[in-house]
Amino acid sequence: MAMEAVSKTAQWTAAARALESERPDAVFVDPYARTVAADTGFTLLERYAGAGTVEYLAIRTGYLDRAVAEAVAGQGIRQVVFVATGMDTRPFRLDCWAEGTKVYELDRPALLLAKDELLGGVEPPAGLTRHPVAVDLAGKWTELLLLAGFRPNQPTLWVIEGLMFFLAEEDVRRLLGTVRKLSADGSVLLGDFASRVSLINPMARPFLSALAEDGAPWRFGTDRPEEFLAECGWQAREVRQPGDEGAEFGRWPYPVVARDVPGVPRSFLFTADPA
Ligand SMILES: C[S@@+](CC[C@H](N)C(=O)[O-])C[C@H]1O[C@@H](n2cnc3c(N)ncnc32)[C@H](O)[C@@H]1O
Repeated sequence: MAMEAVSKTAQWTAAARALESERPDAVFVDPYARTVAADTGFTLLERYAGAGTVEYLAIRTGYLDRAVAEAVAGQGIRQVVFVATGMDTRPFRLDCWAEGTKVYELDRPALLLAKDELLGGVEPPAGLTRHPVAVDLAGKWTELLLLAGFRPNQPTLWVIEGLMFFLAEEDVRRLLGTVRKLSADGSVLLGDFASRVSLINPMARPFLSALAEDGAPWRFGTDRPEEFLAECGWQAREVRQPGDEGAEFGRWPYPVVARDVPGVPRSFLFTADPA
């Protein structure tokens, strides 16, 4: 089964995590990143270079690793859903998971098969069970998650990383609304958005054009992440741009421009609670 174009971008982000992991001052270490990135990931890393993408991916991973650990420890969450999990190996590499944690990994069927093949039988840590669920996140997927054993009455940690710019706005709204409906009190949503200007940023044109040529164009951005989340049933607890305090990790080479300056390409990392 061949992976869709958009799924190959998961190998690109894994390649960026491999590079960060191999630095002497690594923000995080993903020991599986090079394996799951494979040659495709490193070819795409070269093709999609520029516009701070590698630095952003290191910061995004660092931010979300910390936020995952805080949600698990602080809110005692034992049910986790990686929405568009890609080649993310957090179930294997983070040491924050409590006994009895169930992790659901949602993505396209071919991506999930390829991930399992590349990982070659690596076992998750004792006490954690992994449940891959093959879905189309732009369609209906709730039943499939429920069939896999997901319990909507239990607090859930949702991670939606590196997905939403690939979807149409109406699909992003439906996705966040569905996730909200499945979220009991005490649930947490973590993720990232691009701003609208990022979709037309001339400095990022080679990167954006290459993604579009490869069949994975960026389609959605928002300049008002707090309001957008609120419209979908979520209360932003924290929104950070790369380079902001708590989202810097010594990696961001550009100035951070104040939020009220218009016309600037931005990325947003967020932590949100059910509204
Ligand atoms: C850039 S990768 C991000 C993967 C991972 N979360 C990360 O940050 O490395 C985008 C992921 O979204 C998945 N994806 C995109 N559209 C999807 C859809 N309609 N249904 C399911 N998965 C989708 C792709 O298969 C791919 O794994």
